[in-house]
Amino acid sequence: MAKVVIFSGAGISAESGISTFRDSGGLWDNYNIEDVCYFDSLQKNRQLVIDFYDKRRTELEDKKPNKAHIEIAKLQQKYPKDIKIITQNVDDMFERAGCKDVLHVHGFLRELRCEQCSYVKDIGYRKQNDDIDICPEHNLPLRPNIVFFGESAPHYKDMYKEVEGCELFVCIGTSGDVVDVNFLAAYAKKAILNNLEPSRAIYKDRFDSIYYEPATKAIDKIVKEVEEFLSKD
Ligand code: APR
Repeated sequence: MAKVVIFSGAGISAESGISTFRDSGGLWDNYNIEDVCYFDSLQKNRQLVIDFYDKRRTELEDKKPNKAHIEIAKLQQKYPKDIKIITQNVDDMFERAGCKDVLHVHGFLRELRCEQCSYVKDIGYRKQNDDIDICPEHNLPLRPNIVFFGESAPHYKDMYKEVEGCELFVCIGTSGDVVDVNFLAAYAKKAILNNLEPSRAIYKDRFDSIYYEPATKAIDKIVKEVEEFLSKD
């Protein structure tokens, strides 16, 4: 298990021009979450769901990792055994910044998957095409490889295992509305939080350092704290 877990949400990609969910003007201000991200959304309105993820996927192509992703990639390259990156985000900013083995607990926008088996296909940034994006075994059209509300999130068990074993928990850009970051922070000797503003779902006293500012501004201070923590050992 890595000594340091860096956990993130939509806020870390906000400065790359990728919309968050619950900030004003965020995705859930513009779309009915029940229509596009619930366990029964595909049965109820498949085309609306496919169009929603096609739009987010095609828009991803010209986005760029920001300073926060890049500094985290450098940190992981410097301490490859000590840094585990776990994210709720479905974008590929960490990968494009050079991060390795990123754990995406809510899925990955470039991928489609079969509902019947573990078949996954990376279609890059193009729209889904039901004529070619089919499961080779079940001969069924694939679906976005995104975890919808009400569905199981298989990677949560991997997330808990990593966090249970870590000593420093860094939390960047999440409201805490879905994954309970207070619970995750409690496992570590030290916890660092970075958001734009306090969140009603996150208890301040769970964190030793708190930065309420854009991630691209906070990241240098966070990296410094992580390096100091690792140099103590
Ligand atoms: N720098 C740092 N933090 C930021 C920035 C920024 N530039 N911009 C926004 N934030 C913070 C906000 O303060 C907020 O706390 O990012 C957080 C965004 O919260 P949400 O929009 O709720 O996103 P997230 O926490 O990732 O949502 C969790 O909900 O809808 C589901 O599956 C979806 O993974 C997502 C989950």
